[in-house]
Amino acid sequence: HPSNFKEGGDVLLNKANCRAKGGAPGFKVAILGAAGGIGQPLALLMKINPLVSVLHLYDVVNTPGVTADVSHMDTGAVVRGFLGQPQLDNALTGMDLVIIPAGVPRKPGMTRDDLFKINAGIVRTLCEGIARACPNAIVNLISNPVNSTVAIAAEVFKKAGTYDPKRLLGVTTLDVVRANTFVAEVLGVDPREVDVPVVGGHAGVTILPLLSQVKPPSSFTAEEAEYLTNRIQNGGTEVVEAKAGAGSATLSMAYAAAKFANSCLHGLKGEAGVVECAFVDSQVTELPFFATKVRLGRSGAEEIHQLGPLNEYERIGLEKAKSELAESIKKGVDFIKK
Ligand code: NAD
Ligand code: LMR
Repeated sequence: HPSNFKEGGDVLLNKANCRAKGGAPGFKVAILGAAGGIGQPLALLMKINPLVSVLHLYDVVNTPGVTADVSHMDTGAVVRGFLGQPQLDNALTGMDLVIIPAGVPRKPGMTRDDLFKINAGIVRTLCEGIARACPNAIVNLISNPVNSTVAIAAEVFKKAGTYDPKRLLGVTTLDVVRANTFVAEVLGVDPREVDVPVVGGHAGVTILPLLSQVKPPSSFTAEEAEYLTNRIQNGGTEVVEAKAGAGSATLSMAYAAAKFANSCLHGLKGEAGVVECAFVDSQVTELPFFATKVRLGRSGAEEIHQLGPLNEYERIGLEKAKSELAESIKKGVDFIKK
């Protein structure tokens, strides 16, 4: 087994191994970028998920501290930490689900595409590791720009001969979480009662809330639809500006990522009717990837829902979303192919 950290890590690991051998059945989950703004609260939330038996925390910095800290929580999952690229494959071996929030976040004035330069290479390296060490794992990709990084991951897996479109999911849950919250505010109801499908992608106009399909069925004035669509599309920027240079959404994102990962694990367990929006390999439009509702099962995104009926406002939004998405996807594909 890898000897992880210089001080204390081996002791932690040996204890963890003993417990893992006799431990409760469950799924093995890795978080890549686990010491970051999203990674830390996400590690906490996955540690309290009863479906998780083993939790691997990987980052290029600070995992010894995060691992020691989270490992003291008296919940079932055994926690192991991995530091730096030489330990990537050990972090990934045997994993059922890999969640990737690694990479740099936006500062005010930046678009998500401005992160491409740095994050594209990070995602490529991590996905090469997945192809080597856990090619059958479900991958939840959070690193921005999601509209491009999912295409990068797909190309890396294709190159390695391990690509399974059902197992690669770009995480757009935060858009749904925001949409549910903002729509509930307008309707004056509890957000837990609201379900807003959000389709397209995860940046600006590519984020397309389908307000005509909100549950419970609701009608909105043109002004309300415009206000809600803009607020949902710019929710990320709202947080980036409020944080004023200190990063982007981390806490609401960790919540959203934990919610989505939990659904993936329930799907892996074989539960029926697990449905979430996600950015996946898709034939719903002419684009190779598109976010819609998907049914999650033992092999990942087993069924991709169609868009359903759109109103005029949404049809115009869809065209705008598709043209920006096409470019972002192409940029991701070209990064690996060229
Ligand atoms: P952060 O800077 O706080 O944390 C990122 C972590 O990634 C750091 O700990 C860093 O050390 C680590 N990292 C960097 N290179 C790495 C590598 N090669 N391997 C492993 N780990 C590496 O950033 P954050 O706020 O946690 O955001 C992370 C990413 O998530 C950003 O790209 C951000 O834009 C994106 N994000 C996506 C969504 C979404 O809805 N999909 C929402 C919020 C943020
Ligand atoms: C978000 O939607 O909060 C994330 O994509 C981070 C960002 O840059 O806005």
